[in-house]
Amino acid sequence: MTKSRFTKNKQTVRDLQGELIVKCFNDQLGKLSYFGLPSPEMKDIIDWQSFFSYFEVVERGLEPDEWKDQHLLLVNAYKNNIIDRMRLLRGDLDKVILNGVDVHSNHLAFPFNVISLDYSGGLLYRDESGTQYRLKAIKKLIEEQDAKYIVAYLLFISTNLHYSKDGEIVKTLNNIRTELNRSKMNGDEVINAYLSHEMDEMKLKIYIPYYINQIAAGCLYNCVSDKPIVYNGNKGTRMMNFRFYLKYDGRTSAPRFPRERLSQIINTPLVEINDGIPLQKSYGLPKIRVL
Ligand SMILES: C[S@@+](CC[C@H](N)C(=O)[O-])C[C@H]1O[C@@H](n2cnc3c(N)ncnc32)[C@H](O)[C@@H]1O
Repeated sequence: MTKSRFTKNKQTVRDLQGELIVKCFNDQLGKLSYFGLPSPEMKDIIDWQSFFSYFEVVERGLEPDEWKDQHLLLVNAYKNNIIDRMRLLRGDLDKVILNGVDVHSNHLAFPFNVISLDYSGGLLYRDESGTQYRLKAIKKLIEEQDAKYIVAYLLFISTNLHYSKDGEIVKTLNNIRTELNRSKMNGDEVINAYLSHEMDEMKLKIYIPYYINQIAAGCLYNCVSDKPIVYNGNKGTRMMNFRFYLKYDGRTSAPRFPRERLSQIINTPLVEINDGIPLQKSYGLPKIRVL
């Protein structure tokens, strides 16, 4: 048998995600739908297969033989008796979301109960025009999850730290500083500590939940962010994993402010996974307090 390219830490991330699926959808297990990037090994799908009745998966494969990974994925789905409840979309996930179709014009079948954007790369990549297309794709995805059919869903996002020094993050953290200072809280102390922290993970710890909360609120969804996870992935790459539970609240038509407060996002500790063992840590960062 070929050796898995995934680490013990990654397995712990999958286990924590699996626990959350059970906790959030206890009464719908066996009937859920999945959208995501399982890779040809499909370890997440195999671990969670009893929860789901449908899997919509995307795989782009490796140039110039993109078909190889796509083929391996289908063979693995067949071997694990998943093929009858799975559909493979081919191409780049962000393009599939933004265009609504894959490279063969197959339409994306929204909505889904669990979305796992298990990117191997960063979230802040820009295209030739400077557009942060991955952030744009995530926004479109949240907007496309139609509340008529999907009351609540889980969104998992994995990312490495590429482009985590992007001006977008620094500007957003500075906007948050202003918001905190205006509310007579210790915005300067907190944001300076995050911006100057030696680990870039800390900036993403605020930026990503803030981004998801704002987009979700615009679509009338409340968002509950679980503790962000930091771990070393394949080849020692520093990775982060985010888990969000989004629930529709249509009591008003006008978008509301996110229900999750900035202080909740900032004060929550991280979970660091080492050798497969998760441990909560706050990395010496200050908490939000009223001045
Ligand atoms: C990190 S692995 C997924 C691991 C899996 N979710 C698990 O828990 O074991 C990511 C897979 O998605 C593919 N992939 C990564 N980014 C992609 C993108 N933007 N579009 C399409 N496929 C992508 C990679 O080729 C790889 O097979």
